[in-house]
Amino acid sequence: MGKVVLVTGASSGVGRALCQRLLQEDDGLHLCLACRNPGRAEAARAALLAACPSAQVTVVQVDVADLRSVLRAARELRHRFQRLDCVYLNAGIMPNPHLNLRALFSGIFSRKVIHMFSTAEGLLTQEDRVTADGLQEVFATNVFGHFILIQELEPLLAHSDSPSRLIWTSSRSASRSNFSLEDFQHSRGQEPYSSSKYALDLLSVALNQHFHQRGLYSSVACPGTMLTNLTYGILPPFLWTLMMPIIWLLRFFANAFTLTPYNGAEALVWLFHQNPESLNPLNKYLSATTGFGSNYVTTQKMDIDGDTAEKFYQKLLELEKHIKGTIQDTDTQS
Ligand SMILES: NC(=O)c1ccc[n+]([C@@H]2O[C@H](COP(=O)([O-])OP(=O)(O)OC[C@H]3O[C@@H](n4cnc5c(N)ncnc54)[C@H](OP(=O)(O)O)[C@@H]3O)[C@@H](O)[C@H]2O)c1
Repeated sequence: MGKVVLVTGASSGVGRALCQRLLQEDDGLHLCLACRNPGRAEAARAALLAACPSAQVTVVQVDVADLRSVLRAARELRHRFQRLDCVYLNAGIMPNPHLNLRALFSGIFSRKVIHMFSTAEGLLTQEDRVTADGLQEVFATNVFGHFILIQELEPLLAHSDSPSRLIWTSSRSASRSNFSLEDFQHSRGQEPYSSSKYALDLLSVALNQHFHQRGLYSSVACPGTMLTNLTYGILPPFLWTLMMPIIWLLRFFANAFTLTPYNGAEALVWLFHQNPESLNPLNKYLSATTGFGSNYVTTQKMDIDGDTAEKFYQKLLELEKHIKGTIQDTDTQS
């Protein structure tokens, strides 16, 4: 049997492009698309099969922001598969983004312009909300739902015979300054997206510490700035089109403008082919594109210490216990 690869958020954007690229390289893979919306999932599956008719592509429905849905999907996956070779933790949201126009215009004429466009630092705030489980939605979607999924799939992932992989879609905008252990859901701040991406960087480091001896390795990638549903939430498509001449020019100085999901998937595909034991768990692997449009992968040392990663991991375990208890209580009452 070929390798089994699970991809969350495979219905659009970089998740969908990743699936397409993986199958182009190896149609013996079994790809399982973990998607929230069944209609969009089926459309993605049909498009993948049209391009690669002999491939094995299946779907599992999961809303990673809803803990019951994650638990149900994990049960189904445990039933369907003996093992998972690779899980891409890719689904993510940036709800109600607000662009700080003043910071944008003053940044364009400053020496920080390349850094500002590559990381969106100081440019974006978001309005978060609370899920039915009582969690901050950005944290629940980008981090916690995925954490629970991995915990529940542990029997399929942690083997000593041959290694399994976790590959997270993080971001260059993950910033230590937006994260705090005391408010790790970022309920009091205005940059939950950056906080959540820093949180998943921490989690990846902690998972490596806990599981590498049992054959499970975790890595973090950033796809760069691409035009997807997520970025169309920041600015409408016509404004991106208007800005394209500036962006094309900036591409000669900054490698983060991958622009298409296909280019953005570069680091995610590259990681799949690496021996996980040879990767540095403290590196973030970045998709990059040159001014002439060639793709490559580069690395960035993450601003992370093992102690904070471990403390965060322990907090997630506590929250898991609490939330599962709450869910059980409400289910018994109803
Ligand atoms: N675009 C960029 O420039 C950029 C830069 C850095 C990192 N990223 C990261 O790349 C990843 C993919 O984003 P994208 O840019 O490709 O945007 P996208 O096209 O909006 O894709 C997001 C995917 O996540 C899924 N998703 C969202 N909430 C979900 C939930 N509660 N449960 C299950 N699936 C859910 C979406 O499913 P639906 O079809 O149901 O909405 C969709 O398939 C994200 O983690 C994002 O943070 C993007």
